[in-house]
Amino acid sequence: AYVITDPCIDVKDGDCTVACPVDCIYEGGRMFYIHPGECINCGLCLSVCPVDAISWDEEIPQGRVQFKAVNQDFFGPD
Ligand code: SF4
Ligand code: F3S
Repeated sequence: AYVITDPCIDVKDGDCTVACPVDCIYEGGRMFYIHPGECINCGLCLSVCPVDAISWDEEIPQGRVQFKAVNQDFFGPD
C-alpha cells in the first residue's frame, strides 16, 4: 500500500483524496492516512501531493519508515 508521511502534518492539502479512485485516504487530526487494506496501489495520489508526502511502502525515504505503521495503526488492527 501507499503511505502518507510527515510532510502532510499540518499541511493537509487534500488533493490526494480527490485523486484516489477508491476513497481510501482519511483525514485524522494533523494529517491524512491511507487505509492499507483498501489501497489498490494505483499510485495516482503520489504525484498530486504538493509536499511529496506519499510513498510506496517499500520505498519510504529514510527517517520516515515508521509512517507505514502510523498509517496502519490509525485504522487499528484488522
Ligand atoms: Fe488511493 Fe491509489 Fe493512492 Fe492507494 S495508491 S491511496 S488507491 S490513489
Ligand atoms: Fe497530505 Fe499531500 Fe494528501 S499534504 S492530505 S498527503 S495531498
